[in-house]
Amino acid sequence: MSTERPPYLDLAPLAMARGQVRLPGSKSISNRMLLLAALAEGVTEIRDLLASDDTERMLEALRALGVTVTEARGTNAIEVVGCGGRFPVQAADLFLGNAGTAIRPLTAALALAGGRYRLSGVARMHERPIGDLVDALRGLGADVRYTGKDGFPPLEIFPGKLRPQSLVRVRGDVSSQFLTALLMTLPLTGCATVIEVEGELISRPYVEITLNLMARFGIEVGRDGDSRFVLPGGARYRGPGVVHVEGDASGASYFLAAGAIGGGPVRVEGVGRDSIQGDVRFADALAVMGARITWGDNWIEAQAPADGRLRAFDLDLNHIPDAAMTLAVAALFADGPSRLRNVASWRVKETDRLAAMATELRKVGAGIEEGADFLVVTPPAGGVQGAAVHTYDDHRMAMCLSLVALAGVPMRIGDPACVAKTFPDFFARFASVTIPDAIPVIAIDGPAASGKGTVADLVARQLGFRLLDSGALYRLVALDALERGIALTDEPGVTALATNLGVTFSAGQTLLAGRDVTDAIRENRVSDASSKVAALPAVRAALLWRQQAFAGHPGLVAEGRDMGTEVFPAARLKVYLTASAETRASRRYKQLIAKGLGVTLPSLLHDIAERDARDGSRQAAPLRAADDARELDTTSMTAEAAAAQVVSWYHQQHS
Ligand code: DC
Repeated sequence: MSTERPPYLDLAPLAMARGQVRLPGSKSISNRMLLLAALAEGVTEIRDLLASDDTERMLEALRALGVTVTEARGTNAIEVVGCGGRFPVQAADLFLGNAGTAIRPLTAALALAGGRYRLSGVARMHERPIGDLVDALRGLGADVRYTGKDGFPPLEIFPGKLRPQSLVRVRGDVSSQFLTALLMTLPLTGCATVIEVEGELISRPYVEITLNLMARFGIEVGRDGDSRFVLPGGARYRGPGVVHVEGDASGASYFLAAGAIGGGPVRVEGVGRDSIQGDVRFADALAVMGARITWGDNWIEAQAPADGRLRAFDLDLNHIPDAAMTLAVAALFADGPSRLRNVASWRVKETDRLAAMATELRKVGAGIEEGADFLVVTPPAGGVQGAAVHTYDDHRMAMCLSLVALAGVPMRIGDPACVAKTFPDFFARFASVTIPDAIPVIAIDGPAASGKGTVADLVARQLGFRLLDSGALYRLVALDALERGIALTDEPGVTALATNLGVTFSAGQTLLAGRDVTDAIRENRVSDASSKVAALPAVRAALLWRQQAFAGHPGLVAEGRDMGTEVFPAARLKVYLTASAETRASRRYKQLIAKGLGVTLPSLLHDIAERDARDGSRQAAPLRAADDARELDTTSMTAEAAAAQVVSWYHQQHS
């Protein structure tokens, strides 16, 4: 909504997770209780109601319908004066954002209310199906019309000629909210009704929440398994006086997973053994991964497995579709590929969560197989890579992907404000149970062919650190520009390539959009072009965070021109490598000849001098030694000796 949403939030690499979190109220329970309280007779005080976008939409709608809703004297409680199913306002235009828990049951309640209403939401809401519910309501004589695309909101409701039916059929395999909407609202007709579910009932535990809350408001539903639900005739909702909203079990999943991944223990308070929410079963899935779980009546605690190794899993997650997203991210930390099965409903949620999850997990290096209703996640062989991720205006994408930082890598979470849908202060609470990791960085800078690449590689191997060859990023941008015919002086054009660079570094290979370009980026024409694109300030800015994201656990050796000055100014050790121009030219000559690339020594010497001049004289981050860098002249040193010197400096600095 607001135009002031920050574009991203940077999460530092995290070393561990430990602590306690009091959960906000459950969205599913909050919105159901609000509607039931409105449909009931009498006043209901709802305590611990979730304050979030989705509940705000429901509250606005109820107020617009003439229901009196007030905050109870200085508490976090809300009082709802029930209208016994007869909304005082008979014509209203309701905007329901992206709240499925609001639009589905309100559609049913208003279709039976005899007034004239319009219901709409954000663009994504208009892509989320509602046709099966509307069909069931039309079968009862309700007059519900689509004003956009058939089968989807926005909707317009007119007073219908209601013909209460003793049997109503509804599909159960698209969204369980259709059944929930009918269950909650059909008692308003006053007639006994049987609801028959066609197809498999998905997300069953959400229907259990509905039945449980209906019982608290005075209506017991009979049932025959998951396929027939019997609503008694003449039943009315009666406000139970005071009700409490449980903590959000889906929200608990992020913290429990943090405990399992980041050592723990992490305790969530507000849900436990007595919870009516199906998503508490997420803790069982974590237990399958080997996490140690402890249950209290009103809390759950998670800790990493005793041997610290989370196990891969193969699970049917139909019963916990929301919390299952958290497992997709936890799977990055498992000891093999994990399979999440039976989650087709992900495709019709806040976004197409199967596609979104596949795309974003690939960015952090995971191997992904995406099926129509399943996802297989293979942990990255070379360690999880920090990444800037999109969140698709989907609160759960943002919250899940934050867990990646527990791999000890930085994460840039796009549009972090989207968590307000269900968990407005998520990031503050996440920070309160996680401890940042001070990742040691060794910055090695120097002119072309000074031996940085070889030395950095040796140092990284000796210390077991990650490696960043920052020049490769400039080379990739240059290659991309050359191949697409984008002029190297076209700053916006080249910057767009830098921003969207689809690069993977794995097992000694460099892939650009999946194609092996390991050798192509070393060609002379690319070397030359790379120093030209590197002179463009916007290109450097576009690559800045991408380079910083390499700083992962247990440490990073970063080599380039401005590692110590611009990209990692706080590096623990900065080294500036030099060598005479002749030595550098002859080293590069040997490398290129070994690769079968045809060059001559004099032309290389000339190229190197030209590049040095350009890299050193450019306005944006010119090549220079950082003030606190140690200089190492490698003219008469082997790469091994130079690496040994760097490692020894690092240990000195460390001790
Ligand atoms: O290190 P290299 O030769 O692969 O680098 C290719 C080009 O990229 C080089 O001409 C300068 C530029 N570069 C840069 O400007 N900043 C870096 N950190 C790394 C490389």
